[in-house]
Amino acid sequence: SNSQFSLLKQDYQAAQALYHHILLKTTTGEPALKYLQQRQLSLETIKHFQIGYAPKENKTLVSFFQGKNKEYAELNSSGLFSEDDAGNLYDRFRDRVMFPITDQSGNIVAFSGRILTTATATDQPVAKYLNSPETEIFNKGQTLFNLAAAKKAIRERGEVVLFEGFMDVISAHQAGVVNGVASMGTSLTDQQLYLLNRITKRIVICYDGDTPGIKAAQRALQLLKSTNFDVGVVVIPNGQDPDEFIKAQGAPAFKTLVEHKSLTPTAFMIKYLSQQYDLSNDADKVEFLNGALEYIIQVQSPVEQELYLGQLADQLGISKQAVQKELQDKQKTQK
Ligand code: UTP
Ligand code: MN
Ligand code: MN
Ligand code: MN
Ligand code: MN
Repeated sequence: SNSQFSLLKQDYQAAQALYHHILLKTTTGEPALKYLQQRQLSLETIKHFQIGYAPKENKTLVSFFQGKNKEYAELNSSGLFSEDDAGNLYDRFRDRVMFPITDQSGNIVAFSGRILTTATATDQPVAKYLNSPETEIFNKGQTLFNLAAAKKAIRERGEVVLFEGFMDVISAHQAGVVNGVASMGTSLTDQQLYLLNRITKRIVICYDGDTPGIKAAQRALQLLKSTNFDVGVVVIPNGQDPDEFIKAQGAPAFKTLVEHKSLTPTAFMIKYLSQQYDLSNDADKVEFLNGALEYIIQVQSPVEQELYLGQLADQLGISKQAVQKELQDKQKTQK
């Protein structure tokens, strides 16, 4: 119901204010603040994204809400708590850096909480990021991190930059790329594209440069094929993610990459394909050429086709005429 909606939103708002206060103003929050500083987030950035800290102790929020005359049912359905065997609530988020997630109007509807260690998810018994469960006010597939706050910048710049992770959105913002959003640790959905379609016609995919990131970018391209979006893909070198790249290469290099070095979907697919082959080997060359032509054959614009053929010829050290002929033969056999 509507009143239940607004109660839950108030609860999330109150929880965020508490977590943010604990992070910035208490000794309990010091290790988390230190962690964020180690990750080179400025105080301004921490405030802009309203980042907080949920303490280790498992009754912080419980105690906080106890004085507020809340109904058990409301708290239990909020997603902020878990229930023990005796039916007592305890805090869902403990010892985690808290990233608030907003709906399109900017109301906080969920949290993602990160553990403070730098270890990767695979060697941890607990998930690196713990998200709020879906509730009456939170649907993962319909949510994009930072969309409400970035809407104006997305309109002004005429494009949205799509990241894999929250930290990438935050790091990019600090580096001056303020039109970024991220999906909620899941693949891109039709509903998220629907939201974006109302504010922009161009999407720049900027996923992690590792294998999972490249695979996710391919899946996103597949989904975007049946839409009218103009699409660009940024490949982060050396298998890094955007946050790591910014730290290693600096903000200006990152801005240049996003604003001037994005590839068309076809160029991205060809680049990725070429990495599967040893192009000093003739058999590999022929196979790669065939695969690349399969992509180029689908390109509508003759100018764009010409461009890719030229690049392919250069890359393989083959004459442009020969590559062109190969494409024409392929077109004939496919008719
Ligand atoms: P990554 O493993 O690339 O995380 O997962 P990251 O964004 O680089 O995080 P940092 O830099 O280590 O802090 C990308 C996204 O996948 C989701 C999160 O949304 C994360 O931002 N994810 C990852 C989870 O939901 N749970 C996890 O345990 C790990
Ligand atoms: Mn700002
Ligand atoms: Mn990743
Ligand atoms: Mn990453
Ligand atoms: Mn990262």
